[in-house]
Amino acid sequence: MAASKKSTKNAPAPATDARGEGDELHQRAGNGHPVLTTNQGIPVGDNQNSLRATPRGPTLLEDFILREKITHFDHERIPERIVHARGSAAHGYFELTRSLGEYTRARILSEVGVRTPLFTRFSTVAGGAGSVDTPRDVRGFAVKFYTKEGNWDLVGNNIPVFFIQDAIKFPDLIHAVKMEPDRAFPQAASAHDTFWDFVSLMPESMHMIMWAMSDRTIPRSLRTIEGFGIHSFRLINDAGESTFVKFHWRPKLGIQSTVWDEAVKLQSADNDFHRRDLFEAITAGDFPEWELAVQLFTEEQAEAFPFDHLDSTKIIPESL
Ligand code: HEM
Repeated sequence: MAASKKSTKNAPAPATDARGEGDELHQRAGNGHPVLTTNQGIPVGDNQNSLRATPRGPTLLEDFILREKITHFDHERIPERIVHARGSAAHGYFELTRSLGEYTRARILSEVGVRTPLFTRFSTVAGGAGSVDTPRDVRGFAVKFYTKEGNWDLVGNNIPVFFIQDAIKFPDLIHAVKMEPDRAFPQAASAHDTFWDFVSLMPESMHMIMWAMSDRTIPRSLRTIEGFGIHSFRLINDAGESTFVKFHWRPKLGIQSTVWDEAVKLQSADNDFHRRDLFEAITAGDFPEWELAVQLFTEEQAEAFPFDHLDSTKIIPESL
């Protein structure tokens, strides 16, 4: 293939000081240089000159090396995710302290003392990937466990309820919380006109709003937030019996938040306040730690609740 890209008039170029058709210097395989290949591993002598019908063009689309290089380039940017774009993550492990073997056949929840590697990503919801760490916003708490039985994702937020009862309203909720369309601000923040417009028309959001406007959404550190799976999940044991479960992460450092004045000052001093805090704590060996706690209940207990536990705007009070 490489040969077809060279003019047949020219003698093969030496391994060093090779010059291309435009007299440009370029490296060649040999003399310690690894072979350049396409993505499929086909050796290529040159990815600086496209195939042309004549020395001055036109460029030929049958040059699949050109097409591969441009296609690769066009796909180098993955569109930014619309929610939770800004996040910070860390590796760690999960170690079970009390077996739930009575309720589940999942080994990760029944083998006491076994360490399961995991990766946890904390995030804000509304801001873009380059936005600041400190606005008033819900924090995501997403954990991926690399268990012996496959990967298990436990995706949560730092608030035990959610804004809506029906996922079909999610695009409307997010459009409302994003920047206002005519001015592209405020970015990353949740208290503004289009958002108030949405929640004022959505009574089911009221519970979440009470949490979202509390100091939970201006945390002092990612190390001091709680995490909630929010939804009810099912555990199934060896006998095939099912138990409902809600998952709660509790920070060993306790929940700690800022007050608004502090959050504003921190934001003006350091856009990466939470990311830096997490990185510096881990670098110093001051590893953050959470306890994974569960609320377990049967279908009969669920039936007796005066609310629907499958409604994510409701919590199961710990007093129950
Ligand atoms: C209790 C309800 C919900 C919680 C706790 C939640 C939490 C989260 C979290 C933590 C992330 C970031 C995950 C990561 O860090 O990798 C995320 C991403 C996302 N969520 Fe939700 N979410 C909820 C409901 C929804 C609903 C109802 C929708 C849409 C119908 C939705 C759409 C998305 C999308 C599109 C992403 C980005 C995924 C990606 O780009 O990888 N979420 N969510």
